[in-house]
Amino acid sequence: MPPKISRVNDFLAIDIGSHSVKFALCRGQNDILRLERLIHMPTPPDTVKEGVVLDPQLMGQLIRKTIADHGLKAKTGTLTVGGPQAVARTVRLPKMNYATLSKSIQLEAGRYLPSASEDHYIGFDILDEQGEQMDVLLVAAPRSQVMSRLDAIQASNVGIEIVEMEVFAQQRVVEMTRTEPPTDGGAYALVDLGGAHTQVTVLRQERFALTRYIPIGGDTLTAALRGYFHYGLEEAVEIKHNLNLRDLIHPPSEPQENPPLRLLQPILDELIREIRRSLNYYQSQMGDDANRSGKVTEIHLLGGAAQMQGVEEYLTHKLGVPTQLVKPFETPLVDVSKLHPEQLSAGPLFAGVIGASAVLTRESLRNAA
Ligand SMILES: Nc1ncnc2c1ncn2[C@@H]1O[C@H](COP(=O)(O)OP(=O)(O)OP(=O)(O)O)[C@@H](O)[C@H]1O
Ligand SMILES: [Mg+2]
Repeated sequence: MPPKISRVNDFLAIDIGSHSVKFALCRGQNDILRLERLIHMPTPPDTVKEGVVLDPQLMGQLIRKTIADHGLKAKTGTLTVGGPQAVARTVRLPKMNYATLSKSIQLEAGRYLPSASEDHYIGFDILDEQGEQMDVLLVAAPRSQVMSRLDAIQASNVGIEIVEMEVFAQQRVVEMTRTEPPTDGGAYALVDLGGAHTQVTVLRQERFALTRYIPIGGDTLTAALRGYFHYGLEEAVEIKHNLNLRDLIHPPSEPQENPPLRLLQPILDELIREIRRSLNYYQSQMGDDANRSGKVTEIHLLGGAAQMQGVEEYLTHKLGVPTQLVKPFETPLVDVSKLHPEQLSAGPLFAGVIGASAVLTRESLRNAA
């Protein structure tokens, strides 16, 4: 059921991550998403793990306090869910009608879920039919995960209108900001470089073909710096932010030792190997279809750790696939006039929550039309 939201009402999108919680207070106006406020707050340690809010009460306090302190006044909002147990993928099933599929989706979904399908919220959409078969978008998220997030938000007086998969929000922001269709009509990958993990999603012709969750993220790098050099947290984070991965491709002509970068290189390379494995797996699944249009021809990077300097160049260099940062502020669909200019350099960090906010604008504009 599409939400009924007046185009002038402010609404709040919330992206709860293991490292930080992102808030976007927005307003839809004349087909444009106006960003009123963007805030990110550190997630209290050990509060979010693999997509589940382990301490909804503590998270609830953080959300309430942030809303109060920053005047994020909104009655309605949207929330994303993600993590290794959240599934969004296109599956091929024998042709059946909508009503029959509704009855059997629980059973069908069980084949693709890591735990019992009864423990999940499940949704589907029939995409198209080919002969005796049909392609279906299957979406599933563990109930515990969804409920832990809703519990955290419950006391904030924000009525959550939509709960959607993080990857949908990510896809939306890429589609909002892309200036050209994928090269050769090929597949593209979304790579979310987060705190505890990196999520790789491959989309082909707007369909979810694969999602993989790699347990290496920006915080893995911070932890390595802390463990090896015995830095404090703030010092390690600052050193990480100042590193430039371009120095791994073109070492400075003066032989200049950079011990932190040398320490992190094998971890980054391991992460890149895992990303490559995901892309190769996708391509192997394409079988004989792996012609030009089956290849992953571009990578879009988002998430806080995508702000590491030179990361897009390093990935392009290592993977041989053109890689670019998601730039959610560089589209005429988003009005950034209310934001602090400094925030405009944090596009990858806020990309997911901006993609999530756009769902309400689009729906509200559609309703208002
Ligand atoms: N300017 C920057 N340069 C390098 N790394 C950065 C920068 N800003 C943030 N990061 C890193 O980004 C990571 C957090 O990213 P993000 O906030 O997207 O994670 P999250 O969404 O909370 O985590 P997850 O998606 O894994 O649950 C941290 O490791 C942080 O140190
Ligand atoms: Mg995240």
